[in-house]
Amino acid sequence: KKINWFPGHMVKTRREITANLKLVDAVIEIRDARIVASSQNPEIDKIVGDKPRIILLNKADMAEDQVTRRWKKSLENENTLVLEVNALTGKGLNAIKPTLNELLKDKIARNKERGIVNYTIRAMVVGIPNVGKSSFINRMAKNAIAKVGNRPGVTKNKQWIKTKEGIELLDTPGILWPKFEEETSLNLAFTGAIKDEIMDTETLALRLIERLSHHYKERLIERYALEEFSEDPLENMDNIARKRGCIIKGGEIDYMRVAVMILDEFRSAKLGKISLEWPEVSDD
Ligand code: G4P
Repeated sequence: KKINWFPGHMVKTRREITANLKLVDAVIEIRDARIVASSQNPEIDKIVGDKPRIILLNKADMAEDQVTRRWKKSLENENTLVLEVNALTGKGLNAIKPTLNELLKDKIARNKERGIVNYTIRAMVVGIPNVGKSSFINRMAKNAIAKVGNRPGVTKNKQWIKTKEGIELLDTPGILWPKFEEETSLNLAFTGAIKDEIMDTETLALRLIERLSHHYKERLIERYALEEFSEDPLENMDNIARKRGCIIKGGEIDYMRVAVMILDEFRSAKLGKISLEWPEVSDD
């Protein structure tokens, strides 16, 4: 997946989102539960302001439950509620409607007073690439896909999707970009959001081993049956390669093969549920 970081496109996307915000009651922001900070668009808080918001910590099946719960606690506030979900299986998604009702209870009550009983909630879906935005929309629209036509106040050609529960979802126009810091790019590359664009595959895998040695050393030892664990990530990489037979003729390490294998195994959660980022403050 290519991410378009051209500043001109960013300005356009920001402008379009700001305009679309006026058409919705709430924002559904999707993030990757493994990299909750890195998978946020750096400007989204500013753009969304205090509009009611649900943050979906998606791919919760691949992150550590305890860490995801801490993220939930640290992100929730008056206007923001957080749900741990899996957009592939749909787990957690049935909480969206009641959560929107909760966030919008004043508005819904006001509408009721005015005689509007079945108020249709409209929400805009935002998220940087690879957080599972399409999976989410497909899942929500399943068996009930109905495009909502043009109507006053709704710009022509905007694609609204009506969900089973009767929510109208609007997809973000353009692409929301991630942050540019090195740490963020690494996290995005580890999870496959930006594929091998920031460094070569071997180095990326080496950096992943290095990172996992902090909190998930035991997982590496177990998964690759390592007899010893070194302070030097390269030594660990060599040992993993030997254990998995990633060797070329002459007994040399096949770094490309071992790197691809390690990255694949991490990305497909074969190393178990792994969280790469923790909330900064926690009261646990
Ligand atoms: P996007 O629209 O935000 O870019 O994301 P998309 O839905 O395409 O999802 C990106 C990848 O994440 C897909 O994997 C998708 O199956 C996976 N995914 C989405 N939600 C979840 C989830 O809750 N749990 C898990 N485990 N995976 C999830 P992919 O098809 O392998 O990616 P690719 O081959 O398209 O790169």
